[in-house]
Formats: sequence, structure tokens, C-alpha cells
Amino acid sequence: MASARLRPVFLLLLIILLARAATKPLRCRSGVGSKKRLLLISFDGFRWDYDQDVDTPNLDRLARDGVKAKYITPPMLTMTSPSHFTTITGRWVEDHEVVHNMMFNTQTNQKVPHKDTLRRSEWWDNGVLPLWITAQNQGLKTASFYYPGGGANYSGQAVNRAVVEESGHPDDNETEWRQNIDTVLSWFSKEDFDLVTLYYGEPDNVGHARGPDHPDRKAIIRQIDRTVGYLRDAIGLHGLNATLNVIITSDHGMTTVKKRPLVDEIVLNKYLNLLKMASFEILDYGGFGILTPRPGKEQEVLEALAKAPHLTVYRKDDMPESFHLARSGRLPPVVIIADLGFNLNSRFIVYVNKGDHGFHNGEMDMKMIFRAFGPDFKKNFLSEPFDSVHIYPLMCRLLNIWAEPNNGSLEHTADMLITSHGGPRTSPMIITTTVVFVFMSTLIA
Ligand SMILES: *[C@@H]1O[C@H](CO)[C@@H](O)[C@H](O)[C@H]1NC(C)=O
Ligand SMILES: *[C@@H]1O[C@H](CO)[C@@H](O)[C@H](O)[C@H]1NC(C)=O
Ligand SMILES: *[C@@H]1O[C@H](CO)[C@@H](O)[C@H](O)[C@H]1NC(C)=O
Ligand SMILES: *[C@@H]1O[C@H](CO)[C@@H](O)[C@H](O)[C@H]1NC(C)=O
Ligand SMILES: [Zn+2]
Repeated sequence: MASARLRPVFLLLLIILLARAATKPLRCRSGVGSKKRLLLISFDGFRWDYDQDVDTPNLDRLARDGVKAKYITPPMLTMTSPSHFTTITGRWVEDHEVVHNMMFNTQTNQKVPHKDTLRRSEWWDNGVLPLWITAQNQGLKTASFYYPGGGANYSGQAVNRAVVEESGHPDDNETEWRQNIDTVLSWFSKEDFDLVTLYYGEPDNVGHARGPDHPDRKAIIRQIDRTVGYLRDAIGLHGLNATLNVIITSDHGMTTVKKRPLVDEIVLNKYLNLLKMASFEILDYGGFGILTPRPGKEQEVLEALAKAPHLTVYRKDDMPESFHLARSGRLPPVVIIADLGFNLNSRFIVYVNKGDHGFHNGEMDMKMIFRAFGPDFKKNFLSEPFDSVHIYPLMCRLLNIWAEPNNGSLEHTADMLITSHGGPRTSPMIITTTVVFVFMSTLIA
């Protein structure tokens, strides 16, 4: 039994230990003790089945050497910025609030196109920390190459290294694709980066311009396949085979847009006088529309749009729970989702795309790819489908870092890992502290 005089000393010791446990980087370098690195690659608009009607020897080999999911599901709002940000934060769109590709302000009517938002922190930084910052705060070195959101600051912190794609930059230059691979691999091998996210704008562009069934889409998938082959070789040349885990995924799929003028096109102004009824709108953006009714006009707007064909209109607050959009403060009060393959137009048919996304994430055409390989992944493992929100905790596990609060779960991906610890890891520091605590409790008691 400890004397009363000693008790404060024990308590002080305990506080110090607990404080250390809370502030120390809590990384247990499990396995062989070698440091693991992670490369996340996103090919924009890579629909889940794009590799099924094209010869893709490298992607096929990847499936044998690693993990392939049958498909994965993007969050509702099947659009580039919202979906990429869910992947890198593990949070639903209503939480991270990147609710469109365009930055907008419903009060001022300001609208900023996607590429021009990439350095606008006020659009991205809404209190949810992306993986780069979380990893940096735990002592890792991270970088983003063209990945959406990588060019912003979060709570005043920038990503250690960010290359941001300029507006108008061509997306399909294969030589450049290879150079970008060489660049990011040298960041790992020569500069000791731990996490790099790499983004490619294809096959999205081709899917929009030509439609998913066009031969050009197959050609760009062959180009991606060659790039995957190049990546495998380059990883070996950089000496990263044993330490680099790679995840290849996307942000949404693509569907053919129906093109019979006056039959398939939805012109919303035919159903409601937009000028009179709405104070803000983004409607000429494929299958997903948003609108702020003028004061007192909400019911009228909803009723008018309920009569329009080929779409579903939602009051933001009444959207299905599974959308995970209703809690968003940014999203305007009225959300319109067109039926698969239909476009929304406000006043005129301005739409030229032959393919698009933004539709319901339950549609198979909106599903996307997931591949993974590297030292921590099983070989020849076919995973059941899961939601992309679950990629985040997987990445935290691979990097051995603590995750922020998130909406994902390791449950869906743990099976694809070679050493599946099961459940959250406990750091050695916490174990030590607990043992000391229990020991001292018995002394004090
Ligand atoms: C991020 O913060 C740094 C340092 O405060 C600043 O120089 C930079 O312009 C900021 N970048 C963005 C995109 O806000
Ligand atoms: C593709 O990129 C390479 C390397 O940056 C450049 O030399 C070449 O001119 C580009 N090709 C086209 C068609 O833009
Ligand atoms: C790295 O892995 C690739 C793909 O499996 C293989 O072709 C290559 O020989 C390996 N390189 C080294 C240096 O082990
Ligand atoms: C998503 O995660 C955040 C942070 O843990 C939590 O506050 C929120 O309620 C979660 N959302 C859902 C739908 O569970
Ligand atoms: Zn797109």
C-alpha cells in the first residue's frame, strides 16, 4: 500500500505518461519494421467495367498480383471534386461541404469553374482535414500531384508539396503521364515522401466528349493500361517494390447521354419561370442541378418541377438519408437529379456532351474501379463492392497513422490486407501507460 505522501508523485508520473501518449506520433511500425509508403492514383471517370471490352494486359496482371474490387460506389454527388474529397477525407459530402465542382455563392451569384477552384482554400477548407494534413501532423511527408483539393490550405496548413493543374492543360498526353509517374516515384525514392496522391483527368474527358461507347474511350483505356505497365516497371526501377503500396481508383463512372432533341432534353424553364422563381441556380451541368427559390416560392418551385419529366426534385432537408447531403449548409434548398442519361438545361439546350455523370450513385453506370497492390495487399484477391468512403481508413492503416473522425470503416477492406490486425491498433505507448496505470492503482489502493 502506498503512503498518502507518494500519491501525488504517482499521479504526476501518470499525467506525464498520458500526455506523452497523447502527443507522440502513435505509429507502430508493424511487420518487418520497414517504412511503408502509399501512392493513391485516381483516373477521373473510370467506370467500373471500362476494362471489360478492351484488351488490358497490365490491369489484368495487376488483378493477379493484387486486389481488385468488383466495383466501388462513389458518394452522392457523383462529381469530381465532391467525390475526390470524400476519398481523401473519409467523410460524406454533407460533412466536408465540397458540394459541387464549381465554387459558388448563392448570395452574390458568384460561380467559379472547377479548375479555378483548385487553389481556393475557402472552397475546400471547411473544418474537415484531408489525409495529407493528418499524415503531416503525425510526422509524415506528403504530396499531391494534380489531385483535387491538394492545392488548398487546411486550418492554415499547406500540403508539403502540391502540383496544381492549370486551366486548359491537356489531360491525355501519354508522355507526360509517364513523366508524372517518374516524378512522384522519385519523391518517394529520393526525397522520402510517405504519401503521394496522383490524379489523371482521363478517361473523363473522352467519356464526356465522345460517350462511353465510342472507340476513343477504348483507346484511352488502352493508354491507361500501358501507363499501369509503365508504373509497375518504374516502381521496380526506383527500388520501391517492397515498400510502396498503390491504390488505383476513380471518382465516378459515366453514362451515355440521350440525344434526341426535344424528346430527351429537359428544359426547366418550360416548367417554371426561372427568373421569377429562383434567385440562384446551377442547372446546365449534366444530371445534377441546384437552385435557391426566391423567398416564399419554394413550394411552387417544388410543385412545378415535380411535373417535369425524367427527373426527381428534392427539398434538401428531405433527401434520402443514404445521400448524406441533407445536413450540408452550403447546398441550396432545392436539388434536382435527372434520370440516368438525361440532362438538365435551364433555358436553352446548351449541352454538347455525349456522356456524363452526376446521376444517382446507385446506378451501375456511376460505379467505378478499385485496384490495389504492394507489400501489404493480398494477391489475386477479388473484393466485394464497397463505398469509396471506406478507402480513407484503409489508407490510414497502410500509413500506420491515426485517422480523423470519419464515415468509413476498415471492415470492408481489412480482408484485402496481408496482416489484418482487426480493430483499431493500440499504440505501444498506450499499452505501457495502461500497464503502469494498473500497477500503480494496485499500489495506491
Ligand atoms: C497557404 O498558406 C501559405 C502560407 O501562409 C500561403 O503562402 C499560400 O498562399 C496559401 N495558399 C492557399 C492556396 O491559400
Ligand atoms: C506531350 O508532353 C511532352 C512532354 O512534356 C511534350 O514534349 C509534348 O510536346 C507533348 N505533346 C503534345 C501533343 O502536347
Ligand atoms: C518489381 O515488381 C515487378 C512487378 O512484379 C517485377 O516485374 C520486377 O522484377 C520487380 N523488381 C524488383 C527489383 O524486384
Ligand atoms: C460521419 O462522421 C462524422 C465524424 O465522426 C460524424 O459526426 C457524422 O455523424 C457521421 N455521419 C454519419 C451519417 O454517420
Ligand atoms: Zn466529368
